[in-house]
Amino acid sequence: MPSSLPFSAMGHKLTARSGILELMDDLGRAMTIEPDMRMLGGGNPAHVPAMQQIIRERMVQMLGEGDAFERMIGNYDPPQGNPRFLKAMAVLLQRSLGWNLGPENLAITCGGQTAFFYLFNLLAGKFSDGRRRKVLLPLAPEYIGYADQGIDADLFVACRPHITWPKGEAANEFKYGIDFEAVEAALKKEDIALMAVSRPTNPTGNVHTDAEIERLSVLAEEHDIPLIIDNAYGAPFPNVIFTEAKPFHAPHVILTMSLSKLGLPGTRTAIVVAPEKIASAMGAMTAIAGLANGNVGQQLALPWVESGQILEFGQQILRPYYAERSAHAQAWTREFFTAAGVHWALHASEGAFFHWLWLPDLKIPTRELYERLKKRKVLVVPGEYFFFGLEGDWPHSRQCLRLNYSGNADAVREGLKIIAEEAAKAS
Ligand SMILES: Cc1ncc(COP(=O)(O)O)c(C=O)c1O
Repeated sequence: MPSSLPFSAMGHKLTARSGILELMDDLGRAMTIEPDMRMLGGGNPAHVPAMQQIIRERMVQMLGEGDAFERMIGNYDPPQGNPRFLKAMAVLLQRSLGWNLGPENLAITCGGQTAFFYLFNLLAGKFSDGRRRKVLLPLAPEYIGYADQGIDADLFVACRPHITWPKGEAANEFKYGIDFEAVEAALKKEDIALMAVSRPTNPTGNVHTDAEIERLSVLAEEHDIPLIIDNAYGAPFPNVIFTEAKPFHAPHVILTMSLSKLGLPGTRTAIVVAPEKIASAMGAMTAIAGLANGNVGQQLALPWVESGQILEFGQQILRPYYAERSAHAQAWTREFFTAAGVHWALHASEGAFFHWLWLPDLKIPTRELYERLKKRKVLVVPGEYFFFGLEGDWPHSRQCLRLNYSGNADAVREGLKIIAEEAAKAS
């Protein structure tokens, strides 16, 4: 072996100690070799029994369907995705939502995470004419998984939100809203290549209102840039949304959807809905980075897409399941934090499966609280990671924790009790 193995600039960027690496490392260890860890970290969806039964039955059906299984594991798909799956998805979106698109507007990627790596680096970063274009996040905190994806440094510009108390401060429930003045100022100041929002938002469970999305879309159109809506938890599927929110599409919108939060993260399957030029670029990038995508997710989901059943899982199974889990975790939070005498608030739980806990009196950064909690076998995600791209110091960014409430209920309850105890010690 050579005495030193220097890495390229890109190598350094992609191997640096990133938040997402730490998060996935913690998650993977807790799910495999540390079963006594109370898992409120990570983004694993729950093992929802009714959904798992449907997936299992579909797999058994496929095993009995002639040579379907052999074709699935024995063949490469085209890089942009399985043509039958793409067609079925396009028909579903046209029929159920009236969207004007065809299979040429769709591309499969190896999960939404890969889609974002491709999209951000395709559209933003250094250009051959010397321009450095950026990704504007209209509202931080935003999904940790984007933070380290730029091959070029400083890819993100983000805006602080407005904080409101829709039910009054005594209800301990706040909501972030997009500060459009800040967004417009950033669009003027920087060379912005695209805007991106997750809806529902990871980490907060915020669902941007229809009015906010429409206004972002208008701004994007005015500036002739795409608006990416990350639909990992959103409508039309998996539809883990507890409020009213219309699925949104426009010619300049890039929508990413994923099978992960339906209960299939292991299949690594996402669907990008985009202008034809972008969808075809996704296929080209897949060919270079990985030849083709995994086809297990597409084959499993194909009949659900062809029949439209995929649109029912959220309404009938996932939404009630996660809404109930959220309600339980909210009640425990209130019980334990009130008992501990800690000043606390939760972001309105409008979707996804995270609670975003704000501890305004915390005297230590949440990174340190995270370490203390880990010693007590409670895994959370410190909030600092979600505030990338912001200018200036914002104490709020050191006062929040992301808590995944979808795991084992006893572990979530015990975990919340321990978090309240540790927060009391640190306040
Ligand atoms: C907001 C958001 N976007 C994208 C992803 C990526 O998911 P996947 O790569 O499994 O599709 C996640 C995963 O947790 C997420 O929370």
